[in-house]
Amino acid sequence: MTPVPTATARPASRRSRSLLLAWLLAAVGTLAVQAAEMPRLVRGENRVDLIVDGRPWLVLGGELRNSSSSTLGFMEPIWPHLEALHLNTVFTPVSWRQLEPAEGQFDFALVDGLVRRARQSRLRLILLWMGTWKNGVSGYAPGWVLTQPQRFPRLSEAALSPFGEETAAADARAFQRLLAHLREIDREHSTVLMIQVENEIGTAADRSPLAQEALAAPVPAALIAHLVAHASELKPYLRERWGAQGRKTSGTWADVFGPGPATEDIFMAWHYATFVGRVAAAGKAAYPLPMYVNACQLRGDQFDATHDPFGGPTAPVLDVWMAAAPAIEVFAVDNYRDFKPQSAAYRHRGNPLFIPESCIWWKDDPYSGPAKALYAIGEHDALAFSTFGIDNETYRGHLLGDVYRELAGLTPLILPLRGTGRMHGFYHSEEAKSETFAFHGYRAVVTYRALPPRGDEAAPVKDRYGSFGLILQTGEDEFMVLARGADIRFESTDPARTRLVNLGVEEVEFADGRWKMRRLLSGDEVGGQGAACVLTPPPFSRQAVVGEKPITVLRLRMARLAAPEKDAAR
Ligand code: DGJ
Repeated sequence: MTPVPTATARPASRRSRSLLLAWLLAAVGTLAVQAAEMPRLVRGENRVDLIVDGRPWLVLGGELRNSSSSTLGFMEPIWPHLEALHLNTVFTPVSWRQLEPAEGQFDFALVDGLVRRARQSRLRLILLWMGTWKNGVSGYAPGWVLTQPQRFPRLSEAALSPFGEETAAADARAFQRLLAHLREIDREHSTVLMIQVENEIGTAADRSPLAQEALAAPVPAALIAHLVAHASELKPYLRERWGAQGRKTSGTWADVFGPGPATEDIFMAWHYATFVGRVAAAGKAAYPLPMYVNACQLRGDQFDATHDPFGGPTAPVLDVWMAAAPAIEVFAVDNYRDFKPQSAAYRHRGNPLFIPESCIWWKDDPYSGPAKALYAIGEHDALAFSTFGIDNETYRGHLLGDVYRELAGLTPLILPLRGTGRMHGFYHSEEAKSETFAFHGYRAVVTYRALPPRGDEAAPVKDRYGSFGLILQTGEDEFMVLARGADIRFESTDPARTRLVNLGVEEVEFADGRWKMRRLLSGDEVGGQGAACVLTPPPFSRQAVVGEKPITVLRLRMARLAAPEKDAAR
């Protein structure tokens, strides 16, 4: 046992001096901790917030292409591009191969440079730890790992196996060094907000002898205990497979989940998650930044062994990942296809929607990125929205930047509305021409206008419009809207006050710390010439007015009155 030092042997004056010194050190330490509150996730009843510098933060992000941040020189012209797009957070890879080129020798110069340069551009970073796997294979692993197959076993020619004990240990060690370094350089700044651990994990089923042995072994008791403890909240997919086997509490993987490739997917998910959980926990022990993993989407809503990689943190097996990797706090989806159902699928057991990758253009929709950003933030309280390949030349001047600029002003209004039923987001779908959203005492009926003409590649991007937006109920009878290409009609749902009066529609912008009116909208610029409570966000025609923004914030104030007597009598 370590002896407890006592002060009694010292003369009184020395003792009081040292007590004073200890007190001062403690006070300075407390102040430093207060000044540098590190990024963290806070879970409320209906919401999760990412707290940065003591306040909730909405990630308005973009992910760099896979190789751009491999040198500071290549990045240099990209920083102004990111600033012009009004991002507040950049998702950037950090490669194990570059960080630890020889075993035990670390080179932090690139990380240091990226962090320093991000600060200059007033941007925050989310680092993507490209360690053992990137998209199922191991192209970012160092040469010294890839050239020792006995020590670091393979699942295939291209991929390391999750059953490699030394692989997990080496990855965890490198990751821990990275986090320890971040603590040293960034604790006072919080430039780095979060870390993604590996990237889009999952590939073919592991058929190595190590994997076969594990597949024949009993399902780990920890997984069974988790299934039992969360039986009523499990994803139906997992619940049904387990249920079909009689909810067994012991047995091999085939006994507990049935035979076939879907069980191999569950099995691989457990082992990848155990590996990744170990890496994440090692990092957190050095510097506990919030950590997440990202999934490559399934082709459909269930695992299909003919198309889908095995073992990733996909929606149907989220419970398995949650059981195996408690150090991972967020399960994110790279949301390209089936955006709306996939967004809903990841809001599972308190997991917030977090989208590290989506796309700015999707098929023939040039405004897919901005539309999905507003939908994810408004409809699903997303913690983060980001599009992949933000450094693409073609995204210069894209509408996403205008949307991010307006969202930056709206963020202090958006964040308190999470989980309150006073915020909705929408974008056009092929199926519905109109959708209705419930608010407190009101409903909003959104009617989508024309979609961009298919194949009209000649039209300049800003002249084409999709239909999308965000509606915030900012007061009992006040709404703020950021939208395009849709008409929004408000109706009262208070049976005693069904009559609405439009008290004015303003186009507003946040500048110099306050909201200012840009225009008072009347006549042709408001629905029903202002006599109804209908917003028709600009552009009001194909011809924008000189000085008009491509997307703007409108504020509508209304009054609810009792219906006129003759209406009430009917
Ligand atoms: C998904 C990956 O996670 C990204 O790193 C990148 O490779 C994109 N696919 C490319 O579309």
